[in-house]
Amino acid sequence: VVDDDGDAPAPSPLKFRIIATDGRARATSLTLPHHECFTPMFMPVGTQGSVKGLTSAQLEAIECQVILGNTYHLGNRPGADVLAKAGGLHGFMNWRRAMLTDSGGFQMVSLLDLADITEEGVTFQSPTDGKQMLLTPERSIHIQNDIGADIIMALDDVVSSVTADRARFEEATHRTTRWIDRCIAAHKRPHEQCLFGIVQGGLDLDLRDVSLEGLLARGDALPGMAVGGLAGGESKEDFVRVVSHCTAKLPDHKPRYVMGVGYPLDLVLCTALGADMYDCVYPSRTARFGTALVPEGVLRLKSSALEHDHRPIDETCDCLTCKTYTRAQMHAIATKEPRAAQLLTIHNLRYQMRLCAAMHHAIVEQRFADFVRDFIEKQYPDDT
Ligand code: GUN
Ligand code: ZN
Repeated sequence: VVDDDGDAPAPSPLKFRIIATDGRARATSLTLPHHECFTPMFMPVGTQGSVKGLTSAQLEAIECQVILGNTYHLGNRPGADVLAKAGGLHGFMNWRRAMLTDSGGFQMVSLLDLADITEEGVTFQSPTDGKQMLLTPERSIHIQNDIGADIIMALDDVVSSVTADRARFEEATHRTTRWIDRCIAAHKRPHEQCLFGIVQGGLDLDLRDVSLEGLLARGDALPGMAVGGLAGGESKEDFVRVVSHCTAKLPDHKPRYVMGVGYPLDLVLCTALGADMYDCVYPSRTARFGTALVPEGVLRLKSSALEHDHRPIDETCDCLTCKTYTRAQMHAIATKEPRAAQLLTIHNLRYQMRLCAAMHHAIVEQRFADFVRDFIEKQYPDDT
């Protein structure tokens, strides 16, 4: 194939192949510069260049395929120049597989509440030194180019789906579309890093359409698509309605990433609606509070009911924690030793990896509907 200028088109940094579909659910292979991934896929979140409490070897052992980094946190500490000199974040943290960085604005707005958003970018007070900083679409992409992740995210204007008014949503939707062109123009490594666009528009399907059309019009400049602005406290009905609407209109031949999701049930719901990729701090954060994810829901390790329970956390799990420790042992150290948080993080992330792998196989074997029914029956036995 030869383009208009007579040059062979540059190779895309991403190869995406649908292995099987079952209903709207997809099992795919997503080949990124550092790893061939299989979806549905959950991506653990690391902030300061590591997933809290785990080593890169431990993440590989649980079959983690992609880890998530945050542009703002990494741009601050260790700092973009340190990362660039270390050969990007891959070299800095000795991670061989794929990586994704978020653009940074969302974290300012949602976590710090220190942000002021204008057409120029997101202005916020640095939580480390109190200085005013401006994160523009160009700056976000430059930092992400230095970090060197396989997938980088566009800077979007995110508003909380439960607090803002219609006018603010409209402004944010159009601004996100304007910013996408600044992101595309600023991207210096389109042959090595995939830029994903993010659908915004809150809970309003017309605004979602405006956002979708803007992204679809950018074609191959965006090899992947994300759905943002969710998992912020909206009802499950609204969540499903918006995800369903967006996945139905996104191109089949690009990966679909629902940001900030989530709970095991949400991974199953979004996969049923045709989404492929997810990220969330929930499994690792809840591990640090002593909660394990299990097929029946959650298990609170601090509960005195486990004092004499000598079974593993999850009999079906193959992780180091489940193969080595009992519930009683975990109960005994749950509140006292940092090791407990690490062991539970390993288990919870492994749970998410196994859930995604199980969905992949169920889709390939054309039994995804049965899989969903079994999953829900186990999690909610009283309702069925
Ligand atoms: N993480 C969770 N939701 C979002 C979102 O809407 N935008 C970005 N950039 N990151 C997110
Ligand atoms: Zn386990």
